[in-house]
Amino acid sequence: MASSSSKSSFFLLLVLATIIIIPSPNFRRVKAIPLFAKVDVEIINDLDDSGNDLTIHCKYKGDDRGVHTIAPGTRYMFKFTPSWIWRTVFHCNFTWVTDPQIHHFTIYDQFKVRDRFCRNCTWKIKDYVVGPCKYDRDTGDYDDCYPWG
Ligand SMILES: *[C@@H]1O[C@H](CO)[C@@H](O)[C@H](O)[C@H]1NC(C)=O
Ligand SMILES: *[C@@H]1O[C@H](CO)[C@@H](O)[C@H](O)[C@H]1NC(C)=O
Repeated sequence: MASSSSKSSFFLLLVLATIIIIPSPNFRRVKAIPLFAKVDVEIINDLDDSGNDLTIHCKYKGDDRGVHTIAPGTRYMFKFTPSWIWRTVFHCNFTWVTDPQIHHFTIYDQFKVRDRFCRNCTWKIKDYVVGPCKYDRDTGDYDDCYPWG
């Protein structure tokens, strides 16, 4: 029946129009993050002992950022543009003089709320806590800590 089918396609159109027109509550927030904006990841060697150099190796698939060794109190930074097609996930391995076993950490995961809105993601590596600690703008301190893994 032609009239019933055109009625149902009109209804479908109405539903689609409603979905497209109704703005999501996050609309402004999402729009405030420019697409293709670069992300900075900074890693600070905050290990206790002097001379405790930190060796860092980060990569995302074929994007290998190489091996870098930084002295206590200094930082290593890398930049990238998150993909809007693939999920951008940077993995890092950390070793240091007093603990040369590999400590693995996912320093950036585009699908994690922790990282999704982060444009300047700054981390401290300490040896007296369970794992890396991220800078928290709300507290103004590096107290957002996560276990190695
Ligand atoms: C980290 O170490 C593991 C085990 O040796 C290795 O398979 C992995 O590719 C390393 N990842 C990075 C980013 O160096
Ligand atoms: C990122 O934030 C850290 C900690 O507040 C600051 O030291 C650094 O200069 C910032 N970097 C950029 C590129 O804004």
